[in-house]
Amino acid sequence: MYRAHLLGSTEKWISRYISSIWDDREIARHIILTLLEHVIELHRCGALPRDVACKLCRELSRLYHNIDELYDRSDVEEYEDFHELLEKHLIDKLGIEIAGWVGLGRSRNDHVVTAHKLRLRELFRELLSRIVELRRTLIDRAERDRDKVFIAFTHGQPAQVTLFSHYLLSIEEVLRTYTNIFFTILENVVEKCPLGCGPAVGTTVPIDREREMTDLCFLNLCINALYCTETRDYFLITGGVLSAFSTELTRIINDLIKLSDPQINMLVLPSEHCATSSIMPHKRNPATLEIARARLGRVIGEYVSLLSIVRSVGKGYYLDLQEATPHVWNMFNIINDVLHILTDIFKRIIINEDVIRELLKKLPVTSAETVEQLCLREGRSFREVYGEVAKSLREGSARLLSPDDVLMLRRSIGSASIEFIDDQIRIARNMLEKDLSRIEELENRIRRCVENLFKTCETICT
Ligand code: ARG
Repeated sequence: MYRAHLLGSTEKWISRYISSIWDDREIARHIILTLLEHVIELHRCGALPRDVACKLCRELSRLYHNIDELYDRSDVEEYEDFHELLEKHLIDKLGIEIAGWVGLGRSRNDHVVTAHKLRLRELFRELLSRIVELRRTLIDRAERDRDKVFIAFTHGQPAQVTLFSHYLLSIEEVLRTYTNIFFTILENVVEKCPLGCGPAVGTTVPIDREREMTDLCFLNLCINALYCTETRDYFLITGGVLSAFSTELTRIINDLIKLSDPQINMLVLPSEHCATSSIMPHKRNPATLEIARARLGRVIGEYVSLLSIVRSVGKGYYLDLQEATPHVWNMFNIINDVLHILTDIFKRIIINEDVIRELLKKLPVTSAETVEQLCLREGRSFREVYGEVAKSLREGSARLLSPDDVLMLRRSIGSASIEFIDDQIRIARNMLEKDLSRIEELENRIRRCVENLFKTCETICT
């Protein structure tokens, strides 16, 4: 009976030690889809008789909707991974004369990479939808609070007067940049189909790999068989950008915590996201943001683990690679949750206009523009005027432009000014609509892949 278990050992605790069966829960459906496509292709290339292919297809399609049936088996923990459990189930159910065919022209090595990429495609879809949802919230909020004054900081100190809408749109543009990067990784790295490459360098079975790529709705073919089976570039590149992205999200959180600190009090976090102290009843601790910040730190930890594992092996499959996989799923889970939290916070956050107006009376955050305007109006050198304004600030005699004037005077594209903010909102909305239709295309591709396979099964069986 088939079982790739350890040589010379039937001790359960040892086989459990190397098993990825529970981690594989995440890609169980995708392993089934991969095997389904393999069976279809074996039939189409003439290797597998129709009745055998039909029986396998029927059982695999049924299992796709009943994964728990496999995980409920009492011997589940004895399998090295889900590929093995699945094959054993097929043998138990259909007999080795039928199920024994599925090993032909394949390996767990090309199948696991295919399954990873099918799962990643879904995770990218979810990630992109959440990013776009946050972007929409920021744009809506920017439109609603278009004219509210705000203070921009450099070095953590009050720097220039700005608009709350401009601040929100700065976050939106970061997210827009990452949206593009995630699409690029998806299309150029993840969507390269590795199916049909065998354990390392190919198979003698005349599999049409391009047909498999089309059935699974992948955009490109991963060509070199060794590259296809040994690489984890799709994890490394995705993980690298997820780490950078988690750092960007952390910086937004740092700002929200700082700006809602009662000593600054420019923003008020929604009560739903705050916890009081069990000892000091006046406290409103930014609980969700603190947890989110810590978890985003874990994303970097997961990435370091991933790098450490992959760097330790050469080309060709090593079982070490199995250990790399769960780190990537963890990164996605953490980031998706944080995006959800941030979207909710930006929907409900309150901007404390009175506090900001009071701060603006005390803080000379229009000094830079005052200097600029004196230069332009009087035709005098910047450094000369700067010196005079700096002196008057020290002596308490400065006559500075008002915040409202400054917000009318800024002239360059992207500035925080009443004149330019509408353009920025319009551009952000256009980009958002474009990205939404890209996500819709992706959703369709994911759905079409599953529909294709089930439909082909039906054709084989009729
Ligand atoms: N479960 C493995 C993984 O997740 C794939 C199996 C490859 N095992 C093997 N002995 N070639 O990477």
